[in-house]
Amino acid sequence: MGARAVFAAADGEGFSAAAARFRAGPCSVVLVKDLSAPSPAPFLSPVEQAACDALKIPKRKAEWLGGRLAAKLAGAGAFFPEVPLREIEVRRELTGSPFLACRGERSHVSISHSAGVCGAAAGPDFLGLDIEETAPRHPGWYRDYFSPAEREGKDEAAMTGLWAAKEALFKALGLGLSCDTLDADLSGPEPVLRGKALARWDELGRPAFVLESFHPAPGLEGRVVFAKERSNKR
Ligand SMILES: CC(C)(COP(=O)(O)OP(=O)(O)OC[C@H]1O[C@@H](n2cnc3c(N)ncnc32)[C@H](O)[C@@H]1OP(=O)(O)O)[C@@H](O)C(=O)NCCC(=O)NCCS
Repeated sequence: MGARAVFAAADGEGFSAAAARFRAGPCSVVLVKDLSAPSPAPFLSPVEQAACDALKIPKRKAEWLGGRLAAKLAGAGAFFPEVPLREIEVRRELTGSPFLACRGERSHVSISHSAGVCGAAAGPDFLGLDIEETAPRHPGWYRDYFSPAEREGKDEAAMTGLWAAKEALFKALGLGLSCDTLDADLSGPEPVLRGKALARWDELGRPAFVLESFHPAPGLEGRVVFAKERSNKR
């Protein structure tokens, strides 16, 4: 059972919000909710502000902004203390996988948003974070995305946690949901990978991944996956 996140009032560089901060192994994790910030938001770089302005759907804009703030706060906590948040830029690989760039350095970050909570983890190596809302699902969801061994004996909250674990693992691999969810079987103590997930894991030098749980709020499951040891692949 993972830790329940504790939110406290947070403000800085033109924003106010409630934020929860904790560590998962070598990673700094920050969750943000109830964000209030003017437009333009002082914690964004000019490139990020232009990307934000291009988002027209209010819900998407709010989660994008909350994810950026969580990522910058996590990056500041892990690597870039004392640096203005607008100088810690969230950029994306061609796959969509985010990373932090600051004053010529880069570091790993992962972002997720669900039901008003935005979260990010920053760390020295491959990592993934996912937040999912527990909700009733169509029977096909259980059947199509999980092996029989993964489904066995689990209630809705446990299956949501398992989904979050898979997504966090696929984000750590930089794949997102571009691979088959059955490419990772998480029924045992170690993930069993196949297909595109296995090929990518090989490419990254087969890092040993650790999975940790956290509870962002009632009805939400959070999972973070990180490499146990630093690899020399980037
Ligand atoms: C990325 C993806 C896993 C997001 O899942 P989700 O549950 O909808 O959203 P989450 O809030 O948990 O995560 C979103 C964040 O994942 C990150 N992300 C995107 N692509 C990623 C990748 N390849 N690897 C790691 N992280 C990725 C982004 O930072 C994104 O947030 P942002 O757009 O605000 O920066 C999923 O949408 C995806 O892989 N999409 C591309 C492939 C696809 O569309 N497949 C069909 C879907 S069934």
